Amino acid sequence: MTNHEKIKKQYKEKIKKLIKFNKAYFDKDNPIVTDLEFDKLKIELLDQEKKYPFLKKIKDLSKIIGSKPSSKFEKIRHTKPMLSLANAFKKEDMLDFQKKLKNFLNISSKIELSSEPKIDGISASLRYENGIMTYGLSRGDGTFGENITDNLITIKEIPKKLLDAPEVIEVRGEVYIGKKDFEKLKNKFANPRNAAGGSLRQKDSRETAKIPLKFFAYGIGEIKPQIFKNQTDVLKKLKIWGFEVNPFCKYVESIDEIEKKHSELDSLRSTLDYDIDGIVYKVNNLNFQKRLGSTSNSPRWAIAYKFSSIKAISTINDIIIQVGRTGAITPVAKINPVTVGGVVVSNATLHNEDEINRKDIRIGDTVTIQRAGDVIPQVLSVDKSKRKKNSKKFSFPLNCLCGSPTKKEINRSTNKKDAVRRCTKGYDCDFTAKEKLKHLVSKDAFDIEGLGKKVIDSFWDLSFIRTPADIFSIDYEKLERLEGWGELSINNLKKAINDSRKITLSKFIYSIGIRHIGQENAKILAAFFRTDKKFSELFDPVKRKHILKSLDDLDGIGDTQAKSIEDFFNNKKNSNFIKSLMPVLNIEEFKQINKKGKLSNKNIMFTGGFEKMSRSEAKSLAEENGAKILGTLSKKLNYLVVGNSKPTKNKIQKAKELKIDLISEDKWYKLLNR
Ligand code: IVH
Repeated sequence: MTNHEKIKKQYKEKIKKLIKFNKAYFDKDNPIVTDLEFDKLKIELLDQEKKYPFLKKIKDLSKIIGSKPSSKFEKIRHTKPMLSLANAFKKEDMLDFQKKLKNFLNISSKIELSSEPKIDGISASLRYENGIMTYGLSRGDGTFGENITDNLITIKEIPKKLLDAPEVIEVRGEVYIGKKDFEKLKNKFANPRNAAGGSLRQKDSRETAKIPLKFFAYGIGEIKPQIFKNQTDVLKKLKIWGFEVNPFCKYVESIDEIEKKHSELDSLRSTLDYDIDGIVYKVNNLNFQKRLGSTSNSPRWAIAYKFSSIKAISTINDIIIQVGRTGAITPVAKINPVTVGGVVVSNATLHNEDEINRKDIRIGDTVTIQRAGDVIPQVLSVDKSKRKKNSKKFSFPLNCLCGSPTKKEINRSTNKKDAVRRCTKGYDCDFTAKEKLKHLVSKDAFDIEGLGKKVIDSFWDLSFIRTPADIFSIDYEKLERLEGWGELSINNLKKAINDSRKITLSKFIYSIGIRHIGQENAKILAAFFRTDKKFSELFDPVKRKHILKSLDDLDGIGDTQAKSIEDFFNNKKNSNFIKSLMPVLNIEEFKQINKKGKLSNKNIMFTGGFEKMSRSEAKSLAEENGAKILGTLSKKLNYLVVGNSKPTKNKIQKAKELKIDLISEDKWYKLLNR
């Protein structure tokens, strides 16, 4: 073979590889290599073409590579966010769900639920104005969806006009591909869900039209005026309007019915023409749904009761430890790769040291692995009969990967030692720091596309990024010289990083990764601090003490959270890193969402129980109406709301002394037009 021929041969093989990667990414929505590997191969080929012009005649690379799907569609804000669902795995979780509903609504009677199969497809929201479909969105990040109208209208099962519809209605449901139809597409996509996702995000809707997509409607987003009383009425009307509604939807009351329905449908699963991974239970009464509202991620009025998970047997080759962003040490079993429900699993979590001791899990053991939906696979049990005689008890490492000793802390609410060991070094530990950076760029935080976990790992190894501020001063020229980075990917990254500088105060607080400060608590803190300037006072030890004391007044922020904030800022490195990050950002001032509420700018406190509503509902109602709820009585308080059942005399006394308005239970209902 001449040199010329050799080069041609190698080039052709690489092109073949690229086409395969490209197909997996763009057609199947199921990438088989990282973006980095993809770009690396692409650049290699472009370099070769430059060097040997005769190659260009074989294939034109620019015609092979598509564009990134995420930037293909216009983003539109959902009028009502598309939330996800909390999960239940067993009967106790469902009993707990029912108990919480009753507690919140303060009722003891049975609560009617709508039970609906959870279709494993891709969710979409269809907007109709005066009965005409105006646009359709994908879920996106739940707040902003992608405008995929052109593709959605190719689906025959989606009506384009609704007769006698309210002025505005958004119909939400699941796009899917039937199992039989998927058989014909098997060589193109990994599974029906990927096929549905990939087809919906085609740039060319003529391509989407070729795929037999179907749609089950399951609910509504915005509606004006409200014409429904119950979820089951919604489903009935959706059917009348011409939507497909899953035939297994029905309403249930008791836990026995729920259990029966669950196992019935589980056994029917394989006979259905579509994949389902559980049953969604929704409070049937829409007024109850409204009262229950939602937490930041999921509605309180619904839950997905998942079908039992898939199990497999394997052996443990090694047990390693991983360090999380809060310093938590998680033991992970490296197992002989095994397929669990179509996915190859080679790592399974062992949770913590106590769990290993309780189950006496050892290297070399034969174990049962369980994988439930999107939950990380776990080691369920050990088959001790298969254990070799010379096997040794696993001794849990007492030091972090960084070398410093780990600690088990005392849980402040239970006064018991935590099961989890932690490294307490924060940014001083390289392993924790890397995880903190991954958290910082993640979807619910700075949301920097193109800076995923693997890229952070590689930038860390190259010493490009060590601190949060480093992200905003990446030397892109260095990147250019790096294999695997092309002009396109660098420009995209540059833009994503620059765009992310503008961030809300609550997202910023969540992003910096203080333990015990999740999205909800970050919102409470943002409402408290209001500006980044005020937040910066946490860097000053004297002011910090004062601030931490006044956090007592904030409902939701307890001792645990205050102590965690204190620990975070007491660590010099943490403090300095966040201090140098803030000036390169544009942190937006906190905006009260419901300023015009009946209780706007009022500080409220409750004492005693109410007859017609639970404390949780009273609290959520007050917040919805713009009030701030205080935990301790002070001059700042505007109203002390006194429930009829066992109010605290001391509180009433103190409020009187401070000349604070006392509000009776009756007056409270009147105040909110209840
Ligand atoms: S109700 C607030 N009903 O499950 C969430 N969701 O994890 C309201 N899904 O993204 C969703 N079948 O795409 C609902 N009968 C059903 C569903 C269903 C499938 C999907 C939905 C959502 C996900 C929630």
